[in-house]
Amino acid sequence: MRYIGGKSLLTDKICGVINSEIPRVSSAIDIFAGSGAVSQSFKKAGYRTVSNDFLYFSYVMSYASVVLNKRPSFRNLGIADPIKYLNALKPENTDFRPSECFIYSNYSPVGDCERMYFQPDNALKIDVIRLTVEEWKSEGLIDDGEYFYLISALLGAVPFVANIAGVYAAYFKFWDSRTYKHLDLTEPVIINNGRKNESYNLDYTELLSKRFDLMYADPPYNSREYLPNYHILETIARYDYPEIHGVTGMREYGRQKSVFCKKNTVREAFETLIRDCRSVVVQADNAFKAA
Ligand SMILES: C[S@@+](CC[C@H](N)C(=O)[O-])C[C@H]1O[C@@H](n2cnc3c(N)ncnc32)[C@H](O)[C@@H]1O
Repeated sequence: MRYIGGKSLLTDKICGVINSEIPRVSSAIDIFAGSGAVSQSFKKAGYRTVSNDFLYFSYVMSYASVVLNKRPSFRNLGIADPIKYLNALKPENTDFRPSECFIYSNYSPVGDCERMYFQPDNALKIDVIRLTVEEWKSEGLIDDGEYFYLISALLGAVPFVANIAGVYAAYFKFWDSRTYKHLDLTEPVIINNGRKNESYNLDYTELLSKRFDLMYADPPYNSREYLPNYHILETIARYDYPEIHGVTGMREYGRQKSVFCKKNTVREAFETLIRDCRSVVVQADNAFKAA
């Protein structure tokens, strides 16, 4: 996934620095995981990998790509290929009412809504897939791993039909050609590193006392908050019918305002990170310099 400050193009360099500077790493935490690109490269390197971000959608995607060591079996569900099943869902053949469908009602131009984030048919599809997965979970048909795997597949598909220039802080006032494509879920890529990996959805301060061989710390580096740029992915992941407001239909995000994005708190935030951390810290900029 394209992500502000994402390090997907730098993972080889980051792992190279680690290999040369800190040999014999066995466990590593990616404490500001974002897209999860670095966590995935740690997992690939064979480290027991722990991923964390205070955005819930990031946590969900990392749960699928980092915690799971194989594709879930979906044994209790009784559907051999849930991704294929979800792709084939026809909203008109489900029991979900349009009023339950939050994305359709609020982020596509239907009724009083003028927002043009998604074509109405794709918005409705996002809703019925998300609601179906929620129903399977509440009926005990899927476990946590299966739940996060399926939501992660949905989150991975959404950017390919969204009417945006990379982030959800604004939408185009015309329909980009990609919005005419049909939403199409694909299987998340799962690699097996044979380790007990973890994913957390916590403020960074809550994990500093845990001890790892390595902490990779890539916090925000300017005043741009993350949640407003990814608010729709957060809402799809949570599906919590939030209060929204403004032209873009922004959810409230008081608890997800980052101390790293404010001039008057960023210094103390770094001091806390360095002082309270019980692991060796690699900060993104240093990794670049060393590389
Ligand atoms: C520069 S991005 C990380 C990018 C990531 N390395 C990647 O490759 O995609 C910073 C991340 O820090 C998260 N973040 C900001 N403040 C946080 C906090 N107090 N606790 C946990 N996560 C936080 C943001 O949600 C964002 O995903």
